[in-house]
Amino acid sequence: MLVSAKEMLNKAREGKYAVGQFNINNLEWTKAILLTAQELQSPVILGVSEGAGKYMCGYKTVVGMVKGMIEELGITVPVALHLDHGTFEGAKACINAGFSSIMFDGSHYPIEENIEKTTALVHACDILGLSLEAEVGAIGGEEDGVIGSGECADPEECKMIADLGVTMLAAGIGNIHGKYPENWPGLSFETLAAVKEKVGDMPLVLHGGTGIPEDMIKKAISLGVAKINVNTECQLSFQAATRKYIEEGKDQQGKGFDPRKLLAPGFEAIKATVKEKMELFGSVGKA
Ligand code: 13P
Repeated sequence: MLVSAKEMLNKAREGKYAVGQFNINNLEWTKAILLTAQELQSPVILGVSEGAGKYMCGYKTVVGMVKGMIEELGITVPVALHLDHGTFEGAKACINAGFSSIMFDGSHYPIEENIEKTTALVHACDILGLSLEAEVGAIGGEEDGVIGSGECADPEECKMIADLGVTMLAAGIGNIHGKYPENWPGLSFETLAAVKEKVGDMPLVLHGGTGIPEDMIKKAISLGVAKINVNTECQLSFQAATRKYIEEGKDQQGKGFDPRKLLAPGFEAIKATVKEKMELFGSVGKA
């Protein structure tokens, strides 16, 4: 079922677990994530960055693929199709294409402009019953060519954005997209607690889920994080499994060159990573 992320995230916040957002890149990725969610009876959020949307031939193609798969694979767990780090234009395009959830990332704008643009989308999403994620304090690392340094959000600004009526809020707490550097100081739980204090019951979103130690994930959930984004880790699992298949020469044996065989180990590796994360986040059996 393609649904807004609102209900699943409110339930997660109340039940002290988190729903995973797993970014998709193609058919294999999408199928692996949906099947794992169904097997584990977990709600799930499929994340689509603007770059990935373009790669998959546009948002309408993505909506068609996801809706088709939900029907043909008999997926009954709640699935949200979510724009990840959208621009204002991207958000409008995804609303028109039929996404069920939108992230508008106005964190790089001055706060007044972030408020203005987020407000317009709050109204649009309200009317259409879509969930909306906003961001305060840039998440570090590189995503689609945009490099951020891992800021800590200002709790007052978080409250200003939360009060606009968004569904969930991504606040920078020293988290970074991609692999964490050796000298990473860890998540700022001080910032997280201060944000939580200001925004009350709003589900909080933790970006940069790849490589955050388990104890930090659990502590973040206990402090109000109800959605955790994972992208790079699935890419790395896919890469390692595909590399192994080729290095073992399996692509040169029999019909090992068949893309359905060549991509199978990577597909299974994504499933294993998603399963591991759903177990860690506590969303198994919560559909
Ligand atoms: P990672 O690639 O570090 O897992 O981050 C994913 C993310 O936050 C997508 O918005």
